[in-house]
Amino acid sequence: MTDLAGLYNVAEFRRAAKRRLPKWLFEYIDGATEDEIAVRNNRAAIERIRILPRAPFDVSNRDLGTSLFGRTIDMPMLIAPTGGAGLMWFEAELGLARAAKAAGIPYCMATGSQVPFERVAREVGGRLWFQLYVWPAREITYELVRRVAAAGAEALVVTVDTPVSPNREYNARNGFGVPLRLTAANLTDMTLHPRWLLGTLLKYVLAGGLPEMRNHPPEYNRRRTRPAIAPRLGLSDTVDRAEIQRLRDLFPGKLLVKGIMHPQDALDMVALGADGLVVSNHGGRNLDAAMATFDALPGVVAAVGGKTTIIVDSGIRRGLDIIKARALGADLVQTGRATLWGASVGGEAGVTRVLDLMRHELTTAMANVGVRTIDEITADLLAG
Ligand code: GLV
Repeated sequence: MTDLAGLYNVAEFRRAAKRRLPKWLFEYIDGATEDEIAVRNNRAAIERIRILPRAPFDVSNRDLGTSLFGRTIDMPMLIAPTGGAGLMWFEAELGLARAAKAAGIPYCMATGSQVPFERVAREVGGRLWFQLYVWPAREITYELVRRVAAAGAEALVVTVDTPVSPNREYNARNGFGVPLRLTAANLTDMTLHPRWLLGTLLKYVLAGGLPEMRNHPPEYNRRRTRPAIAPRLGLSDTVDRAEIQRLRDLFPGKLLVKGIMHPQDALDMVALGADGLVVSNHGGRNLDAAMATFDALPGVVAAVGGKTTIIVDSGIRRGLDIIKARALGADLVQTGRATLWGASVGGEAGVTRVLDLMRHELTTAMANVGVRTIDEITADLLAG
């Protein structure tokens, strides 16, 4: 077991995850697309931001509480959906949900999870959100939406930035997919990472089989029936505004749209009744020329700020980044890779440690910029 207390930031978690995971899994999380320009650009945009701090103030009483849909969360962040989380750690989705609940923040589960949403709702609860990929088979998609609504999902987060499979050459090279394809190269890779092999894969095998897509209908996970159904549960390139309207009408809870970068799209989604937007370029994983999310955020805030909840992701690695996001007008941030590195290294305990580090970084930065509450973080703090 990795000494979690000996890891002091997200970058160290990433390095520890690289040691524990087989290369094909590590690259699946860490990689982006094509020449990896967008992923670098996301970080560069965050790193460019300079704060003009205020002082002196009594900042001894700092409060990280943030209002979200009429209730308070304990810090302005949530755990983003990441498909395949259960490949990194045995049933990682349960650990991500438990760590989020203990930290007083929401957890958004991905469609492509290894534990079904209902089980997380039953065994963990908390403020659970569900990320939806609209499948070509619309009737099966709507059935999934009804299922997660019945199980108590507070929010449905519809991803709209992935109409087709992005060019991720490392996945093609590594033969990555779920169900796992066992090739000579990835078998060798697995045996070179015995902590993952025994601590994750073997646990699935002992529990009854290889990790599968547990939010998908059972036919997807049976070898005999999979070929016929798999294309109908792939990505859909026909998701349009009318589809968002249908989902708005179908889902009784909060509806968020993830992957909005353009102010006009933000306006249109709010007009359709979206309760929130995620300004995201999917962690730089899809369009390699995508504008950095922190560069796109001001345009979205100018268009719909105050009318809807705005979440930003793609590159958050420090609590300080949350201050920058709030100063630019986002309500909260979400972390994908950062918390997934936590899960990859230590399951629930790893995620808890990452969240603790981010909370510590955030509260330290708040004192240093001279604010006591999250609402006091405003555009005034931005240096020019
Ligand atoms: C899935 O959404 C991915 O980015 O791999």
